[in-house]
Amino acid sequence: MSKVLVTRPIAESALSELKGVADVDLWHDPEVPPSRADLVARVSEVDGILSLLTDDIDDEVMAAAPGLRVVSNCAVGYDNVDVAAATRRGVMVCNTPGVLTETTADLAWALIMATARRIPEAERYLRAGKWKSWSPQMLLGQDVYGATLGVVGFGRIGQAVAKRAKGFEMRVLYHDIERKPEAEEATGAELAELPRLLRESDVVSIHTPLSEQTRHLIGERELALMKPTAVLVNTARGGIVDAKALAAALREGRIFAAGLDVFESEPLALDDELLGLSNVVLLPHIGSASVATRTRMARMAVENLIAGLKGERPPHLVNPEVLA
Ligand code: GLV
Repeated sequence: MSKVLVTRPIAESALSELKGVADVDLWHDPEVPPSRADLVARVSEVDGILSLLTDDIDDEVMAAAPGLRVVSNCAVGYDNVDVAAATRRGVMVCNTPGVLTETTADLAWALIMATARRIPEAERYLRAGKWKSWSPQMLLGQDVYGATLGVVGFGRIGQAVAKRAKGFEMRVLYHDIERKPEAEEATGAELAELPRLLRESDVVSIHTPLSEQTRHLIGERELALMKPTAVLVNTARGGIVDAKALAAALREGRIFAAGLDVFESEPLALDDELLGLSNVVLLPHIGSASVATRTRMARMAVENLIAGLKGERPPHLVNPEVLA
């Protein structure tokens, strides 16, 4: 039987399917991921790893696993895996695209509404006993209906966010490395260079993968292009936005608000300056966190892993060149 390491408890139905075909070493703690030392110690005899985005599967970890054939990441993003090193070592890398698109787009919209209309801030105000009376100038936000949405990264999730904007009768701009005519047709979105998108949008929502090209894509210069009434939402990866530049822009009121589900370093440190700002909504990376979606992701990750262990091509292989 193949040996696999599963780095955190996942949906039971997926886990039992895996247990039927492999000898599973399951990391016990649902909250705390294995450390680098734990990973290195536990992979020496494995054929496969079912990893999560919290696991840094780099060359050192792979070097400690001479029998490793497949890394199945239970996430659509796979910036936590050194894919080049895996390919060099003949290791297949897989992800879980598609199944979390709508759930993540829903969360991006939750953040759009929460930031533009100051929902968490308004709730804190009420709970703190500060609400004395209905007041014409109290907690005024920005309109979403009829506004301009700028989608940075027009893949599956970016397009799903744009589709929802139809109901709000928004103008949609998108920025991507390539033009997407079919998606333009489906969503009514218009391609724009990043500076124009930032200048014209009332809501900027980020949906690119994290790579060397997109690291700090939104920095001081880009934030300076945004309207003072605009909101920035990031449900992709924290590293795409320069956090220091964002905190300064929020503190100085150069943009209206931000909604963040992802951070350069997760979990967010309790002394992070973002926590002291009222015009930012902070979530603990829950973009795909619905019962149904997390179950689908786990099943897909297991399906990829089992195919790889059998020597078949996994359905969602990110480095097909490894089979060449
Ligand atoms: C979550 O962030 C994912 O990449 O699936």
